Amino acid sequence: MRRAYNRHLSKDLVGKQVQLRGWLYRTRSSGGIVFAVVRDSTGIMQVTVKKGSVPDEDFDSAVKAGIESSVEIDGELAEDKRAPGGFEVRAKRFQVAGLSEPFPITEYQSTELLLDLRHLWIRSREQTAVSKVKAAILMGARKWFEENDYIEVTPPIITAVAPEDSTTLFQIKYFDRIAYLSQSAQFYLESLIFSLDKVYSLTPSFRAEKSRTPRHLAEYWHLEMEAAWMDNEENMRVQEELVAAMLDKAVEKCPDELKLLKRDPATLKRIRPPFDRMKYEEAMDYLQKRGLDVSWGSDLGAIEERELTKDRDMPVFVVNYPKELKPFYMKENPEDPRTYKNSDLLAPEGFGEIIGGSERETDNARMIAWLEDKGESLDNYKWYLDLRRYGSVPHSGFGLGIERIVTWICKLDHIRDATPYPRTVARVYP
Ligand code: 4AD
Ligand code: MG
Repeated sequence: MRRAYNRHLSKDLVGKQVQLRGWLYRTRSSGGIVFAVVRDSTGIMQVTVKKGSVPDEDFDSAVKAGIESSVEIDGELAEDKRAPGGFEVRAKRFQVAGLSEPFPITEYQSTELLLDLRHLWIRSREQTAVSKVKAAILMGARKWFEENDYIEVTPPIITAVAPEDSTTLFQIKYFDRIAYLSQSAQFYLESLIFSLDKVYSLTPSFRAEKSRTPRHLAEYWHLEMEAAWMDNEENMRVQEELVAAMLDKAVEKCPDELKLLKRDPATLKRIRPPFDRMKYEEAMDYLQKRGLDVSWGSDLGAIEERELTKDRDMPVFVVNYPKELKPFYMKENPEDPRTYKNSDLLAPEGFGEIIGGSERETDNARMIAWLEDKGESLDNYKWYLDLRRYGSVPHSGFGLGIERIVTWICKLDHIRDATPYPRTVARVYP
C-alpha cells in the first residue's frame, strides 16, 4: 500500500486502499464510531473508524487518542459529501505512533500565549500556509536570478561596518574585539561585482529596532542584489520583474494556501511591470493635499506610506529622496543634488516599503566627508573605499525584506506571523 498525502486523495482513488500518516486535527466518537480529521503537510482528511471494521485494540486507541496525536491509518477512500473536501477514509487499521497529552492550544487564545507556544502554534493551518507561500516566493526569486545570469554568493554575517542606521546595530563580543551582526550584505555584494558582475544573496539581517511596530523584526531574511554597469532606472526594472516572478510562483504553487489566508490569487496575478514611479517631491504634494503635516525632508513612515498606497492595487516606486533621509553610499542625483538616485518600492493596499535600493556613490571624497562628519572610524571602511580606487564602475543594487513581502502577500496583521520564530525587542523564546 502506498502512503498518500491528503491533497492527493481524489476521485480516481475512490474504492482503493490508501495509507495516511498525520496528526489528529479534530476527533469525536459517538457509539461505535470515531470521526477523526487527520492533518498532514498538505491538508486535512476525514477518517471514520468503525467498531468491528478495525481490530478491537485499534478502535480503543482511536477512542482514546486526543488531538495532535500522530497516527497511521490504512483504509479505503470513499466519497462523502458531508466530509471536508468531499472524501473520507474508512479505516481498516488505526495505529497511534505518539499519543498527545492534552494540547495546550484551544480555540481562542491570547497572542502572548500563542507566541509562548510558538513551537506548537506553527502547526496551525495559517502558519503552514504562510511557510509554503514563503518557500514559493523564494523559489520564484532564485529562478528569476538564475535565468537572468546572477550568481548567488555568501557574504559574512559578522562584520565591522554599518551600512544602515548605526543606532540599530547589534553588537557582539568577537574574541577580544567588538563586532556587529550584519544589517545588510550590500558592501560585500558591491565588492563581488568586480569579478562576478551580477550577484545576489539571501541572508539573515539584524536590526536592533527598539520600537514595536507591526512591520519590524530584529532578525529578518534579506534578499539583496548588486550589479555592475547598472543605473537606478535599470535597478528598478530588475525589482519590478523580480517581484512579479515571486508573485507568479506563489500563485502557481500555493493557490489554496493563499485562499486560506483570504488572499485572492487573482489580485496578485494582475500585478505586472511597469510599476508607477513617483518622485519624493510628488509624494509630499500628494500627502499635503490629503491633509498630512509633511514637508520637504519629512521621512515616509508607516502612516505616510499607507496614505500613498491605500488606493493602489499595484506597487509604486518613490524615487529621489532627500539626502538627509538616506545613507551615505547612495549616488547624488545630478538633476537635483538635494536628492539621491534611489528608490523605495511600496507594496499596495496600504502596505508600504518592501524594497530599498539605489545607484551607488563612486566618489570617495564625498563618502569620506560624510563618514568623517559622522565621526565614523575610516579604518573600518578602508576596504570599502578601496573598491572606488581599483577600477570603479557604475553600479546599483537593492534589498528586499522577505517577511515584509510575505506579510503583504498573505494579508497578515503583523510581520511576526511571516516567520516561524519571530525575534522582536520583547522576545527570543522559543
Ligand atoms: O531599506 P533597507 O534598510 O536597505 C538596505 O539595507 C540596503 N543596504 C539594501 C541594499 O541596497 N542592498 O532594508 C531593505 C529592506 C527594506 O525595504 C525592508 O523590506 C527590509 O529590508 N527591512 C526589514 N524587514 C523586517 N524588519 C526590519 N527591521 C527591517 N528593516 C528593513
Ligand atoms: Mg529602507
